[in-house]
Amino acid sequence: MQSVFHSRLHVAVIMDGNGRWAARRGWPRARGHEAGVEAIRRVAEAAPEHGVGTLSLYAFSADNWRRPKAEVRALMGLFRLYLRTETARLVRDGIRLTVFGRRDRLPDGIPEAIGRAEAETAGGTRLHLRIAVDYSARAAILAAAIQARACGGVGREAFRRLVTGEPAPPDVDLLIRTSGEQRLSDFLLWESAYAELFFTERMWPDFGAEDLAQALAAFRARDRRFGGLAEPVAAA
Ligand code: FPP
Repeated sequence: MQSVFHSRLHVAVIMDGNGRWAARRGWPRARGHEAGVEAIRRVAEAAPEHGVGTLSLYAFSADNWRRPKAEVRALMGLFRLYLRTETARLVRDGIRLTVFGRRDRLPDGIPEAIGRAEAETAGGTRLHLRIAVDYSARAAILAAAIQARACGGVGREAFRRLVTGEPAPPDVDLLIRTSGEQRLSDFLLWESAYAELFFTERMWPDFGAEDLAQALAAFRARDRRFGGLAEPVAAA
């Protein structure tokens, strides 16, 4: 059975520009990431009112381990703080939080904190907030392929569930990337097969409810054909 989130939109966001946002102000990059957490709060709060049922955010890619140790430490520290301080607010707002990506390389205590936050917010039905940490879409697809082979092969729907993990989200409807960059950076490659792409110059720390509304208005003006035709036409 499909969950309550499936009848509403799935929006994915590549939150980009934290570092440049901070640098322009002469601040350390970590301050940009802190402001990025505020933006997460704003957008998660606004999302359900705009018809969004699932919001997937790219917080830390498998390739982000290549960043300077101090920045990785700052990001992990922020994530730890987020899990500790945000759970009560998420429960209050009816938001279910799940985290996807590898957990075995995360610093001590974080996998347990993720488990607690997921358990405490599991009853939320207004929004499914999914945060990608140590995530790589290619790695997820490869792991699914290995599992599928071990099962002697599976159909497309079962394979999709192996790729996405549980709870399986619907396909991405709209993928937003901030800060003027226009690429997918190994985020939700399977799930975004028919996603509409929206790129904005806005830096992630400045992104808010108004920007989300604008992106959704652009999305709603698009003609989604999923490989078909806009109007039914007589067979040639
Ligand atoms: C991209 O900006 C952003 C990230 C790599 C991390 C996003 C993280 C957050 C918004 C905060 C931490 C998340 C949680 C859930 C607590 P960038 O650093 O690549 O910016 P730049 O392209 O301007 O350098």
